[in-house]
Amino acid sequence: MLRTLLIELSHSEVLRKFSMKNSLAKKTARRFVAGETIKEGIEAAKELNSLGIKTTMDFLGENTKNEEEAINCSKEIIKILKAIEEEKIDGNVSIKLTQLGLDLGEEFCKGILIKILEEAKMRNNFVRIDMEGSPYTDKTLKLFFDVLEKYKNVGIVIQAYLYRSMKDVEEIIKRGGRIRLCKGAYKEPKTIAFPKKKDVNENFIKIMKVLLNSKIYHAIATHDEKMIDATISYVEEKKIPRDSFEFQMLYGIRRDLQAKLVKDGWRVRVYLPYGTHWYPYYMRRLAERPANLFFILKNLFKG
Ligand code: FDA
Repeated sequence: MLRTLLIELSHSEVLRKFSMKNSLAKKTARRFVAGETIKEGIEAAKELNSLGIKTTMDFLGENTKNEEEAINCSKEIIKILKAIEEEKIDGNVSIKLTQLGLDLGEEFCKGILIKILEEAKMRNNFVRIDMEGSPYTDKTLKLFFDVLEKYKNVGIVIQAYLYRSMKDVEEIIKRGGRIRLCKGAYKEPKTIAFPKKKDVNENFIKIMKVLLNSKIYHAIATHDEKMIDATISYVEEKKIPRDSFEFQMLYGIRRDLQAKLVKDGWRVRVYLPYGTHWYPYYMRRLAERPANLFFILKNLFKG
């Protein structure tokens, strides 16, 4: 219930405006967001690298309302690619297609995406397309398949909570695409997504096994120790090379587990968001773990 409410509130424009001006919300969002500027993002990336952790940088933004906004986002993403190279960061970028104008037209969005992919290719880097809510699944996959024909430096995300995901995975693998597997962070109806966590977890493990057998470099993105243990057991059982995949986690979540995996010799990449449009991202993080609300309340009473 609380999770659903928080995800619904993430679409509220009034609350977004209020939170972005509210210093407590800003302060608590900093747990999950590296800062508001590219400089802060790069500093956080360097810190992660110094701990042996790779990064994927995300300039926060989604559902841009006009072409100018979308083009400005793409310029910032190109700046990140440049900064990653110049500052010798072990990192790549993650993007959202609605940030690049998917709501404004598929051809427009594709044009911007190709500019980013060209820039990344020139700098020998990689671009991950995040997966958004289900109204965008088909459009996102279609654009991904379109660009995958020419660009090998692009990957996609699959959400284990969708019933359709195993089929999508098979098609992506057939075309040689790289996948980040996650559970899924949006509110979806039970007609298209498993309503029970247990079923999501079972599907996650089934897909994880398919990915690890595919001989393509994929990412297993979770903070769930059960999912991580299942992955490690499978890798050890099948003698899959450790460097043939990576674990991924979100900035500010389970830093202890990130460090432990690195210490144990696993590849770890942290999704590192920065920017001023942190509100919907922040609300999704709160929704994933309602205990986070108590963290906020505790700060509120601390004054
Ligand atoms: P689960 O939610 O079961 O959490 C397991 C444990 O992790 C919890 O018990 C808690 O300890 C910790 N934890 C998880 N979330 C937390 C939080 N917010 N605050 C504090 N602790 C928390 N989704 C999507 O729909 N599209 C996408 O493109 C992406 N991209 C993406 C990239 C990366 C690198 C990651 C790690 C995740 C995503 N996600 C995503 C989000 C993903 O779908 C999912 O919502 C979260 O990862 C939480 O699910 P877990 O697998 O961690 O399990």
